[in-house]
Amino acid sequence: RTGIVVALDGPSGSGKSSTSRGVATRLGFRYLDTGAMFRAITLGMLKAGVDVHDADAVAAHAGVTQIVSGTDPSNPTIHVDGEDASVAIRGEDVVAAVSPVAAVPAVRTRLLELQREIIGAGDIVVEGRDIGSVVAPDADVKLYLTADPAARAARRALEEGGSDVAATEASLLARDRIDSTRTTAPLTMADGAVHIDTTFFTLDEVIDQVLELVEAAR
Ligand code: C5P
Repeated sequence: RTGIVVALDGPSGSGKSSTSRGVATRLGFRYLDTGAMFRAITLGMLKAGVDVHDADAVAAHAGVTQIVSGTDPSNPTIHVDGEDASVAIRGEDVVAAVSPVAAVPAVRTRLLELQREIIGAGDIVVEGRDIGSVVAPDADVKLYLTADPAARAARRALEEGGSDVAATEASLLARDRIDSTRTTAPLTMADGAVHIDTTFFTLDEVIDQVLELVEAAR
């Protein structure tokens, strides 16, 4: 690898996406949203009528959906079976089904391969849950972003155009619980990761902290 890899992990609503996109834009790097890939494979399962709580059925379907991830931080897109699914992957049906799908090892193996292919030579910011621990343990910079659940829910509800904050918080916490307790590649702070609690920082302050770490690693 000749370029730099920045790995950004953390629970939903911790500021990962905005931070990753901002850092990639400032550095002229590519950006990969691995959460979007898990959402995309989940959308494919829902469309095919797969029972997402049946791990064997999910595993059997793991290789079926075609996924193409865009890597432009100013316009992150994802195509599922040839169709732009950038909006559809944010739907409530996908949110409710994604964590059980992402817990199935065959799904993770399939996406791991795609993720490593895209990371390739580097100069990329990659966000997810297991980037620093499993996907790119050799990343040049590893971050683990967290924030208070109330702050995370407030941000997410705002992004979703004013959904109910309490319901959003409950849904975030339910997803976190599945993501951090699964056997394969659970959400965890990777060895060597720098922890940033973003609760009381602005987006620009967090981006600046990450940029300083990247400069120090160059
Ligand atoms: O980050 P985002 O909310 O889009 O992620 C959606 C879901 O995808 C997470 O709740 C998690 O279940 C799964 N995921 C994962 N590993 C990643 C990224 C996302 O398991 N690297």
